[in-house]
Amino acid sequence: MELFEKKFHQSMSSSVPLLNRITYYIVNRKGKQMRPMFVFLTAKLLNDGAVNERTYRGASVIELIHTATLVHDDVVDDSYKRRGFFSINALWKNKIAVLVGDYLLSKGLLLSIDNGDFDLLRIISVAVREMSEGELLQIEKARRLDITEEVYFEIIRQKTATLIAACCSLGAASVCPDSEHVETFRKFGELCGMAFQIKDDLFDYGQERIGKPTGIDIKEQKMTLPLIYALNQATEAQRKWLINSVKNHNKDRNRVREVIAFVKDSGGLEYAVDKMQEFKAEALQMLQAFPESPYRSALELMVNYVVDRKQ
Ligand code: IPE
Ligand code: IPE
Ligand code: MG
Ligand code: MG
Repeated sequence: MELFEKKFHQSMSSSVPLLNRITYYIVNRKGKQMRPMFVFLTAKLLNDGAVNERTYRGASVIELIHTATLVHDDVVDDSYKRRGFFSINALWKNKIAVLVGDYLLSKGLLLSIDNGDFDLLRIISVAVREMSEGELLQIEKARRLDITEEVYFEIIRQKTATLIAACCSLGAASVCPDSEHVETFRKFGELCGMAFQIKDDLFDYGQERIGKPTGIDIKEQKMTLPLIYALNQATEAQRKWLINSVKNHNKDRNRVREVIAFVKDSGGLEYAVDKMQEFKAEALQMLQAFPESPYRSALELMVNYVVDRKQ
């Protein structure tokens, strides 16, 4: 990871001073770096602990794209906090945040192209397309407030799970291209990613300090699994009140607090936790097909961390 961080920082360099100031700021507020870890551990599991330059480049591309989407996501969500500090849009405004996100995305794609990693580029580009589709589907549903559990799972699969799926299939492709492991690990990463986003949505209902705002999903009319479950359990009158709250009173802090309390009383959080555990169990099950090794154990730890993490 030390070597990765060095390469990752280099991959962002620019001759424009403003961009260098901003990327310096980004590198110094690093996140959990779970995606590169998924890349490296998958490659190691399949290749007796060895990784290669393609693995490093793939990990950098993924983290560049992840960073770009977070910079854009905070513009989309009007969010001023990220990784325990101000978001890029909070410090430099939307205009610059949009351009910085585009810059990071293109640097990522070029890192693959310049090195002829076209198989990895395909995996990554599919993920980028799906992430945009997922965020747009979410906005569409937020406007109409007609989201079902099925659509929720499709949104989180696209906006979050595909990138983690790309991490694992890319890790596999970096050491054994054209093998059946590429698809197996895509599926494994997707399951981890589903659990990952349910956890993220659960954080939004909590009070813990997680380095970014909580309680903003309803404000943004984002209906996540706990609320969808509560809606399905509610009487017709309660349903109307819930929908009306999210539609017309989503900026009223007291009203949002009441909605959150209702969701909690309906058992929405427990329901989401159960679903998250199902994805986790399925992911762990998939690893059983591989022989015991330090890399398999480390991947198991990652899967557990996805649901037990504190931020
Ligand atoms: C945040 O991802 C975006 C989601 C998909 C929920 P992470 O929680 O992995 O972000 P960092 O990189 O650790 O800050
Ligand atoms: C995940 O959704 C965002 C991306 C896939 C970029 P959220 O909007 O819930 O992510 P956070 O909570 O801002 O990190
Ligand atoms: Mg957001
Ligand atoms: Mg969130």
